Amino acid sequence: MEFTKENLHQGLETRVIGAKLFVFESIDSTNTCAKTLAEAGVESGTVVLADHQTAGRGRNGRSWLSEPGANLLFSVVLRPQLTREQAFILTFYSSVAIARAVESVTGEQIECKWPNDLLLHGKKFCGILLENSFRQQAITHSIIGIGLNVNQIEFHGDLGSRATSLRKELSQWFDRRKLLQSILTSMEALFIEIDSGAFEEILQDWKSRCFMFGKPITVARPHDQVSGTAVGLSEDGGLIIETNQGKSVVYAGDVSILL
Ligand code: BTN
Repeated sequence: MEFTKENLHQGLETRVIGAKLFVFESIDSTNTCAKTLAEAGVESGTVVLADHQTAGRGRNGRSWLSEPGANLLFSVVLRPQLTREQAFILTFYSSVAIARAVESVTGEQIECKWPNDLLLHGKKFCGILLENSFRQQAITHSIIGIGLNVNQIEFHGDLGSRATSLRKELSQWFDRRKLLQSILTSMEALFIEIDSGAFEEILQDWKSRCFMFGKPITVARPHDQVSGTAVGLSEDGGLIIETNQGKSVVYAGDVSILL
């Protein structure tokens, strides 16, 4: 089914997230559009969705490729009352909210990989690109960009071995509209924890889905890499790694798990 503002609003039970929707058949990047709208003062909870992106962006300067009309590509503008130090929670908030929604739709257990990938049967089906803007020490807006592979079956090039979709794993077609509505509902419900400053539930849920702890990993950063055993999360959302030289905390990079 083609997305329209009308059919997306139909049956959507949220009050804030998705109250304002921008729907495109094709756009450069929903994150770029959401950022422009946020800078122009659009309300918290605004959602920008597209069936196709011509310049979809992933983390660390990569592109995000997605078959037109098969998946979910959308960005949510939020204006949480968080300081610069608290902003890390948004990574875990978005992963947990989406994982809960996908679990309720599919009945399958969803795993989290640091910093913000979601995995099904050990393969990535969803990536999140978080872009925060600050004024002095507070967040002015946060753009949560979500690329979720729903019904795409073929993944080309090196994506072939790393990426998957719900349909590919579960041999079942999924209604993208219902899935999106379920994600927005879950994001709105969990946002209460962000607003109240009670991050423990979010962090506990994320940790319980993280399969990396106790495993040997390598984190590739732009200029170096850190290898060791993933042992936990620091108070500010970094990944604690036990290396030969002692404990090290990393805040960005691509994790490979060495099995
Ligand atoms: C990752 O690298 O894993 C993050 C991928 C995020 C992709 C989504 S698709 C919708 C939104 N718009 C973008 O340009 N990127 C994000």
